[in-house]
Amino acid sequence: MKNILTIFGGSGNLAYLKLYPALLSLDKLKQLPDSFQIISAARSKRTTEDFREEIRKRLKLIESDPIVLENFLKRIHYIALSFSDLKDYEKLKSKINSLDETYAIENNRIFYLATSPNFFSVITKNLYDKKMIHQDKGNQKIVIEKPFGNDYSSAKQLNDHLLKYVDEENIYRIDHYLGKDMIANILYLRFSNPIFSGVWSKDYIDNIQIVASEDIGIQDRGRYYDDSGALRDMVQNHLLQILGTVAMEMPEDFDSSCIQTEKIEIFKSLRAYTCDDVNDHISLGQYKENTDKNFNAYREEKGIDDKSTTETFAALEVFIDNDVWTGVPFYLKTGKRLDKKAVYITIEFKKNKEAEHMINKKFKSNILQIKIQPEEGINIKFNLKKPRVEDEISSVEMDFCKSCLIDYQAPAAYEKILSGLFENEKLLFTTWEELKYTWLFIDPIAKACQNTKDDLLSFYTGGTSGPDSSDQLLEKSNRHWWPY
Ligand code: BG6
Repeated sequence: MKNILTIFGGSGNLAYLKLYPALLSLDKLKQLPDSFQIISAARSKRTTEDFREEIRKRLKLIESDPIVLENFLKRIHYIALSFSDLKDYEKLKSKINSLDETYAIENNRIFYLATSPNFFSVITKNLYDKKMIHQDKGNQKIVIEKPFGNDYSSAKQLNDHLLKYVDEENIYRIDHYLGKDMIANILYLRFSNPIFSGVWSKDYIDNIQIVASEDIGIQDRGRYYDDSGALRDMVQNHLLQILGTVAMEMPEDFDSSCIQTEKIEIFKSLRAYTCDDVNDHISLGQYKENTDKNFNAYREEKGIDDKSTTETFAALEVFIDNDVWTGVPFYLKTGKRLDKKAVYITIEFKKNKEAEHMINKKFKSNILQIKIQPEEGINIKFNLKKPRVEDEISSVEMDFCKSCLIDYQAPAAYEKILSGLFENEKLLFTTWEELKYTWLFIDPIAKACQNTKDDLLSFYTGGTSGPDSSDQLLEKSNRHWWPY
């Protein structure tokens, strides 16, 4: 695990908010060897000392032990460079070489591309041209942050480009939801518990809901977000990854390649939508201002056109056309500026109509809820007879809150992703095939929506639960969104 990690975009938001805190935490847990070095490569001119000071200021808020903090800061070095200028890579190369010599790192490098996606291709080519990757000695990895393309064709172009310079085994494509502990736990919940695996199909399940709701707006990411929107920013990757994990068949083995193969089978079986279907199966929204809460409308956010039709909310009814899931709707919902921050999956089971008829009382559905964040845990609702009254059925629940346990400390998603990266754990990263089929599913929807945006887009007040059209998506079949 001796390594030099170079973060391109090392002074960007993602690096400050996720990468340095995750690395600090791994350091504190003694999971980084003494030789592990970090180079932050970014455009602005500053010294390593100034940069360490900047990181010190930010990390002080989460780390109170100055010794831990100072030890971590010693690992960080700063290099100013223009990502597209090949000449500048000479500076980076000599810094890396001198650290390599000092710490005997033996040519092991990780290049983490946390820049705007426009630079992914040029950075890889420059690294190759300067002989910093694809070397006989040691191992050199390239990590590509989200978004991996903006549609199928740009994603394919990027992938083809990467493969010219890096072998597949050294490409790590990020979807940080794969690092969330409860998402990894879905497979264990399903396959190590016959009480669940036995009923995991269209015979017992009525519908499945996957929700990632955010209370924040788009913050200062206007330029990126307006070209992306909720379908590309959240559905193509995070929500479909959850769907793949919930719906896949039991893999032949519990290794990354078998698990990914099963997920790909699900992505291939997603029912494709055409322009005509979109109205019936998709709800899109954009947030309006909320003066009580002091929230701007999306169109008033920095960097956003005042006529923008980009969706900040998307809800979809999705079907998987295979033997296991035919006819079972999967409802996906995500949005910015909603009433809460929460990610959760709800599995609603079919009612036992025969028993309902015999007892002559209405049953409630059995509900299994997998809570991913902020609370992590499982909630189950089931029917029981009320005491003292014959045939009175009521719904009761059992709640297991994993994150409430004393001493519970699940690693943050990026912590898990980074240690997975150091240990070559490919299950925490997406493959090209997964990206390919998820983009092929989203592309026609995003394009159809583009053409009919004005009709499709409903506006919702910031800080509420989203547009009515998303409720109507379920009401047409007498269903409703299950609350968190
Ligand atoms: C990112 C999206 O991939 O995920 C953001 O680009 C979103 O728009 C974020 O806010 C949500 O991640 P989390 O871990 O906070 O649920």
